[in-house]
Amino acid sequence: MKIIVSVDRNWGIGYQGQLLLRIPEDMKFFKQMTIGKVVVMGRVTFESLPGKQPLKERTNIVLSSNMVAPDSGVIVCRTLDLLFQELKKYKTDDIFVIGGEKVFRQLLPYCREAYVTKINNAYPADRFFVNLDENEDWKLESQSEWKTYNGIQFCYTRYECHNYRQL
Ligand SMILES: NC(=O)c1ccc[n+]([C@@H]2O[C@H](COP(=O)([O-])OP(=O)(O)OC[C@H]3O[C@@H](n4cnc5c(N)ncnc54)[C@H](OP(=O)(O)O)[C@@H]3O)[C@@H](O)[C@H]2O)c1
Repeated sequence: MKIIVSVDRNWGIGYQGQLLLRIPEDMKFFKQMTIGKVVVMGRVTFESLPGKQPLKERTNIVLSSNMVAPDSGVIVCRTLDLLFQELKKYKTDDIFVIGGEKVFRQLLPYCREAYVTKINNAYPADRFFVNLDENEDWKLESQSEWKTYNGIQFCYTRYECHNYRQL
């Protein structure tokens, strides 16, 4: 499985149920990476999607103990075990964990790769990703050049885990 996430300088990822900011080029990158694939998210992240609608052209799986599955093509898994059963139907390389904090923390040990967009600013945040630079299982494999959007610097990085659990 893979993770895709955008973090600020403090590895902050969200505030009051929303992203810290939206960088159009990063949104495009997220779409390119996940289109045609399986995206796994928590109920709070699902509810933050525009119009609370699933992401188009992707298999949307939401982890929630009590959310009622909307009509519109969302698979709801009520426990981690049920999620793992569901995920057996797909190629592990096609599965992207897309957040938020609670789901990242539970699924990080099962992920082999993480695509981390780093934003070189600090924002008020109440949700965080694990600092992979301080995690000995994870190694930075590549980093793009720094780009700028509205004066904000950001870059794309890819980390690999050398000690992940099989699903
Ligand atoms: N920067 C980024 O790349 C990025 C990406 C995604 C999200 N975010 C941000 O992250 C924040 C949301 O993160 P969050 O940690 O609050 O919420 P979350 O992880 O999106 O969702 C948490 C919810 O998922 C369900 N859940 C989690 N583990 C479960 C389990 N083992 N069994 C059953 N249900 C489970 C529960 O839903 P129920 O309460 O319904 O049971 C739980 O309340 C938002 O601010 C969002 O914008 C940022």
